[in-house]
Amino acid sequence: MATKTPAETEIALQRMVTIYVVTGLLFLVLPGTFLGVWNLVSISGRHTLAGLSQAWLQAHGHAQIFGWIGTFVIGIGYYSLSKMGGLMPVAVSRAWTSWAFWTGGVAIRWAANVTEFHWRILVPVSAALQLIAFVIFFATVSRHKPQSAPSKRPAIETWMKLVIAASVAFLLALIVNQVEAVVLATTAGHPEIPHWLDQRYLFLAAWGFPVLAVWGFNARWLPVFLGIREPSSDGLMAALAVSATGLTAALFGQLQIATLLLLIASILATLALSVFRRPLKPAKTKGVSPSFPAFVRGAYIWLLVAAALGVYAAQADAHGGIWGASRHALTVGFLSTMVFAIGQRVLPAFCGMRLLYSKGLMWASLTILNLGCLLRVASEVPAYEANLRAAWTLLPVSAVTELTAVTIFALNLGITLILPPPTTAFCKVS
Ligand code: HEM
Repeated sequence: MATKTPAETEIALQRMVTIYVVTGLLFLVLPGTFLGVWNLVSISGRHTLAGLSQAWLQAHGHAQIFGWIGTFVIGIGYYSLSKMGGLMPVAVSRAWTSWAFWTGGVAIRWAANVTEFHWRILVPVSAALQLIAFVIFFATVSRHKPQSAPSKRPAIETWMKLVIAASVAFLLALIVNQVEAVVLATTAGHPEIPHWLDQRYLFLAAWGFPVLAVWGFNARWLPVFLGIREPSSDGLMAALAVSATGLTAALFGQLQIATLLLLIASILATLALSVFRRPLKPAKTKGVSPSFPAFVRGAYIWLLVAAALGVYAAQADAHGGIWGASRHALTVGFLSTMVFAIGQRVLPAFCGMRLLYSKGLMWASLTILNLGCLLRVASEVPAYEANLRAAWTLLPVSAVTELTAVTIFALNLGITLILPPPTTAFCKVS
């Protein structure tokens, strides 16, 4: 096979990351958000979470966490680590293999959960496909060597340590998923993870790899994007250690300790990243909405709200409302706001030196998302826990509001990727 030039490899990498982004967007809109809205409208109609298919709720959660966030993380991981050196061009063919296994695995899991068609075979197979895809990714990127003078062995930077920890948490979540899938297939009547186990697993799936990956990439990019000071390495390492202890406590079912530790870790990470301190330089908002820094800061408020609600849920939840509010403050308020903000900032450049189609749509997607999340988090506790009629009426409104935000985000990125890149664009990311 002829050796590729660096320019050809760069184009191949851009094409690869574009396909990952489009795949993630597809999982986000239909299997993820649309099914989430459907579930919430059904719950609001019955005025209770009880009795709704757990397999459908779990299909939604799996599509969002693995189908959307996971696909973005793997695609961006392959791309950015290849760009930093050591991986080209073998990473491109590995990335395509991972993509095929990963997409097949997540899609099969969703279909098997929703239809229950041959689920005893398909659920374990889907988990295996996801695990294989991730192991290929893990093996490829862990051989990555940052570019440096040949004589020097470079120290691993703090942001990288967080990304490595996120990758380990990702791998663990997929191993747990594989074991669960086999146990379900051999013992259960439906593809539904029992509540006690699902709750522990969700800590790893939501507070594990997605949160650690965001802290890692924020440590690398926010000083440039927001003009803030470099993060405190000690503070971030303390946040990582406390968070890992919290996740371990959650796996052992010690939810009160786990939620308290995750609250402390969130406070430590927010302080270490200096998100709320006065910036040293103006933020770089060229090509994106000027409100970009406010949304990034707002995401950290959601992180703290999610963690505080988690502590409350571990003490007082009776009907799933406080856990649900905490989970969505985290997944919609923190993770989705962050991906909408940073994603629209970096992905157009990663996917072929493009410019974001519309700053106005970026602002609209983020504003509507935060409004929907506020409605959701504020009404879920009084609805589920106190059966308050007005709160039950607000929940479907929150669902449609969030669906609107997701659709605008997907359209803005989709149009950006379809339109040809401007020939003279200079889209430097950092
Ligand atoms: C339009 C937006 C969304 C709606 C309407 C929605 C709706 C729901 C509903 C009704 C549940 C069942 C539990 C509960 O009542 O709280 C649920 C669970 C869940 N959602 Fe969402 N959701 C949305 C967005 C997201 C996003 C963006 C993520 C992740 C990035 C996410 C991740 C999860 C997870 C992990 C679960 C737990 C599933 C399980 O029980 O195993 N959701 N969601």
